[in-house]
Formats: sequence, structure tokens, C-alpha cells
Amino acid sequence: AKTKPTVFIIFGGTGDLNHRKITPALYNLFLDGWLPAEFAIIGTGRTELTDEQFRNNLLQGINQFSRKGKAEKAKWKEFSEHITYQISNIKEAKAYAEFAQRIHHYQQEWQLEPCIVYYLAVSPGFFPVIAENIAKSKLAGTLATTRIVIEKPFGRDLASARQLNTLLGSIFEESQIYRIDHYLGKETVQNILAFRFANALFEHIWNRNYIDHVQISVSEQLGVESRGDFYETAGALRDMVQNHLFQLLCLVAMEPPVSYHADEVRNRKVDVLNALRTIRPDEVSQVAVRGQYGAGWIEGKKAIGYHQEEDVAANSAQLTFAALKLFIDNWRWQGVPFYLRTGKRLSETDSVITIQFKPVPHQSFPPEATTNWQPNRLIINIQPCMGIRMQFQAKRPGLEMALHPVEMQFSYDDFEKAGAPTEGTPEAYETLLLDITRGDSTLFMRADQVEAAWQVLMPIIEAWEATPAADFPNYEAGTRGPVEADALIAKDGHSWMV
Ligand code: BG6
Repeated sequence: AKTKPTVFIIFGGTGDLNHRKITPALYNLFLDGWLPAEFAIIGTGRTELTDEQFRNNLLQGINQFSRKGKAEKAKWKEFSEHITYQISNIKEAKAYAEFAQRIHHYQQEWQLEPCIVYYLAVSPGFFPVIAENIAKSKLAGTLATTRIVIEKPFGRDLASARQLNTLLGSIFEESQIYRIDHYLGKETVQNILAFRFANALFEHIWNRNYIDHVQISVSEQLGVESRGDFYETAGALRDMVQNHLFQLLCLVAMEPPVSYHADEVRNRKVDVLNALRTIRPDEVSQVAVRGQYGAGWIEGKKAIGYHQEEDVAANSAQLTFAALKLFIDNWRWQGVPFYLRTGKRLSETDSVITIQFKPVPHQSFPPEATTNWQPNRLIINIQPCMGIRMQFQAKRPGLEMALHPVEMQFSYDDFEKAGAPTEGTPEAYETLLLDITRGDSTLFMRADQVEAAWQVLMPIIEAWEATPAADFPNYEAGTRGPVEADALIAKDGHSWMV
């Protein structure tokens, strides 16, 4: 079904996120018929632009970044008529009076009360002032009429996240607040829930009795690109672990939800975060590894080190890599290590979750048959490869008994073979924007989730900030990261799968 009549007010309208992600996603929703005739996009920013200039900038973004390729002329013209631009100083009440006028204008034109989506695609320093001004101008409304979308990072530690939650909570109902973690919009990430809870086969072995350990690895070949400024204030724990990796962990470890309702799913996820074992300051060095890239080679091209990146201090102690070993203290997971790893400028771009099962209790086959034996592994490929693989042992054809690991595989092309071809994979932002307009917050972070995630990381953040690394950079671009990350898992007799 089409969404309700909606006015999107995009703060940071001239920014990179709108250019690359938000408007291209709205355009694809429009092409696929999800948006009603009554929708409007108001971009706002400090730059002086005409509507026409603003539209042209957005068109370039679509042409460059949309998964559907270049915009078709007639379709774009139709879409672009819904877009306007308002120059504004978002710290001043005047800007909000103008938004109110524009909203009123659409109300009159459509003879309907539209839903207003305030999308805060600005740096986090502006979140409070925008929320306060929305409140002062009496534009906060209720879930039926108004939603606010907050991009990450949501706070930079537990205290600042709490403060922001308190402020937003004093203005909006929790159901009006959409805290984005774009990983939750990815197809393969949503599929973790489908795989676990729409199949009877795996759930009864999904626990400490059968699972040896879990690895969650998000590697990127990209460096910090043009975001040195931001990255200097964030680093790998804040940029990736507190949100994306913890959300993946929750999906793998959560209890079955009774229903696919926003609060039910989020309750089960927050249970996982609350059960993560507290890390004592004196054990940080045994369970966490930090890293920063130096110069190296990526796919045959020279890559500069983090210290040489634009807007990065020449002696910066910021981390571009982190690896953690965590435990979940509950019945299902007691004693099962969860190894998490993420980093920039690594040898591969690959996001993979590996569930490694325990070895067989007894080897029935003679030693010469089992030289290649490996434990069963379930491998969930998040990106760029998308699919699920199950590794098991099979008899290698021949006159002697010899075992070899082989794989059963599901890839997204399989829907075609299964008679259910798809029209491609939506971008995470398409899914998330559609959910926002429908008022479905299942795939968004709730206040308590964000705080619970910070709570787990605080001992590590504090320990590392108190003692900046003396050995940075400690891995070369284009490698697997610091050797200590291999040691973290090797101590337990394992190795990273990718
Ligand atoms: C963002 C981080 O949230 O996620 C970036 O700020 C990171 O540093 C990006 O590169 C990764 O997202 P994706 O969708 O490319 O895996």
C-alpha cells in the first residue's frame, strides 16, 4: 500500500547523506509506486540555492549513486516537482515559522493533514537545537502527524546518549523517534531473523550446547575518505561497533520474539545487550584490540596512512580497527565467545557472520580419513557477497574413506530458481524510509538499546582514552589488521574465517 501523504523536511539538505542516500532512496520509492501523489520534500541548508539548483544537485546524486542508475527524464521531472529548497539558519525560530507556512500550504493544497518527517541529516551537535526549535514552534505533534529521524552517531558515550534521549523524550513520544542504524535496513541483515525464526531446523541447536563460538567481522578496504574531521571524534568503536556490530550480535543472539512487532523485537534485542558481560578495566587488554592503519597497498594501489589523511592530526591516536571478545551471560549463551572485528583499509571488503559448531563428540573415522576434517560452520554473508552457506563434511569420491568439507549454499539468485524473481535488492535507506512513513520502528534503535550498547563499551572507551596507543599505526593498509587481533582469537584455538 502507498504511504500516507507526507512532507519530508531534510535538515542537511545540501549534505552528502542526502545527496548519496536519502533522495536517491525516495526517488526509488517513487519509481516503485510507494509514494502517494501527495508528498513533498523540503531540503534545508545554509547555502543560498534556487529550487532548480537544489533539484539539479540532487539529480546528480541520483545519477551517480542510485542502484537503478541514471534517472529517466520524464520520471525525474515528475518527481522533482515535489522538491523545494529553503535556505535557513536552523538555530533560529524564523526557519521553523517558514516550515510551518510551507506545511500549511501543502495542507491547503491537498485538503489533508500530512505526516511530517523531520530528517536530521546534520552533524550531531545540531540535534538538540533542532529538536528544541521544533518544540518551541509547536511542530512536534504526535505519531499520527510527526516523526523525527536521527542519524548516527547517537551520543559519543553513555552520558551524552542519555542526555540526548532525555531531551528528545521531553519533546516527542518514543514511537515518533527513529534512530537510524542503516545496517538494520540491509536485506541480508533482516534475513537473519527470517532464517532463525521461520525455520524449525536450526533453533534447537542455536545455543551453548552446540555452538562453539560466533564471529562477526565487518572489514572495509575504504579508509576514512573525506570524513577525517568526523572520524577523529569517532573512531572504530563509536563509528561501527556501538551500532552496526552490536545490532548484528543482537540478531544472532536474541531469543525468539513472540511476534514481529517493533517493541517485541526490540525487547528481545535489548535483552542481549543487557546480558553482555561487563568488562572490568583490568581485563580490557585481554579482550579488546585496537589498531590504526599506516601506509600500504590496496589492490595494487598505494594507500596513505591514517596520519596522512586530510583533517587528521599527524600524531592522532584514533583507532581505525577494533576487535573484541564478548560473552553473553544468559542460559542460551553462557561460555560461548562472540568475537567481533571491524576495521578500515583492510585487505578485503567483506561483512560476514560465522557460527561455528562444536566438534563431533567422537571421531568414528580413522585418522587418515579426517586429516581435512573441519567443524560445521554456518556462514552468513552480509555484503558484498549476499547469502548463507552451511559447511559440512562429505566423503570424497574414491576407494578409500576420506572426508572433506563442502558447502550447501543459498544466494539471492536462488529466488529466481524458486519461481519468485525479485526486482533487485532495495537499498537499506529505501526500506528504512518506507518504514518511517508507515510508522514502523522495528528496524530502528530504541532509547534503551542505544544506552545499553554504550554501557557495554564504556570500560573499553575509558581505558583506551586514558592510555593512548603508543604503537600507532600498528597495521599496514591492505592487510588483515594488527597481529594482536589474530592472537585474540588464536589464544582460544581459533582463527578469523575471513
Ligand atoms: C557508516 C560508517 O555508518 O557505515 C562508515 O560511518 C562506514 O565509516 C559505513 O564506512 C559502512 O556502511 P556500509 O553500508 O558500506 O557497510
